Amino acid sequence: MSTDAGLLSSLTQLREFGISFIRNVPTQEGEVARVAQRIGPIRDTFYGRHWDVRSVKNAKNIAYTSLDLMLHQDLMYFEAPPGLQFLHALEVTVPTGGESLFVDGFRVAETLRRTHPHHFDTLVRVPVTYNYVHPHQHRIMRHPIISFDPHNAETHLFYSPPFEGPLDVPPEDVVPFYEAYREFTKLVDDPQYRLQFRLQAGDLVAFNNRRLLHGRTGFDPSSGNRHLQGTYVDWDDFKSRASIIRRLCSTQTPSAASS
Ligand code: OGA
Ligand code: ZN
Repeated sequence: MSTDAGLLSSLTQLREFGISFIRNVPTQEGEVARVAQRIGPIRDTFYGRHWDVRSVKNAKNIAYTSLDLMLHQDLMYFEAPPGLQFLHALEVTVPTGGESLFVDGFRVAETLRRTHPHHFDTLVRVPVTYNYVHPHQHRIMRHPIISFDPHNAETHLFYSPPFEGPLDVPPEDVVPFYEAYREFTKLVDDPQYRLQFRLQAGDLVAFNNRRLLHGRTGFDPSSGNRHLQGTYVDWDDFKSRASIIRRLCSTQTPSAASS
């Protein structure tokens, strides 16, 4: 990430696969934002410019416990959830559990389209309610799980069962929605689509939060520590940076690109 060529390689992985791993990132607080800013300005939210993921008492959010965190995407209760998410492991001493899970949601959606086209159509059409309702935050947003933007030829997924509110759709959509949702979730939870591994201190993973689903397995907080920091960057900034770096690297000689 410290060279243009390294950055290009990460941006290319993000575009192709929706995920990129960066190793040996100094295990210092806030380092995640420094790496993210190589790509674009931080997308600040009510969680802060960057935020801590660790198990705390009286957690307001399941992410800040030691429980299994099922596959999801972040901030689905926003109108435009951030396109790029970063998670940086600062300390991981739990001997078991606390493993990261990733699933390519586009692959799952494409499988559903092939195997159950009517369910796919239902998930494009019927919106799910996502909410985050606390004394100082009251956020509710409805999005269909699968969304196309035909003007820009982009697909976005909106999947986050841990933050789901009551379904708010016409009665005739309820049964078809749950039938479709069940099939989609079955695919999401099918281990054949899953990447599962334990981040080590100094590992940083960047991923497309509108394409990939992420989660983690539970762990015993009395067995050790697990501390990650995360941040977000908007997809607009990712696309702009990727286009500029691609052009820059294509006009440089290989030795100049890696210096
Ligand atoms: C989150 C999250 C994953 C982890 O904070 O949104 O998904 O590995 N955390 O703890
Ligand atoms: Zn998350």
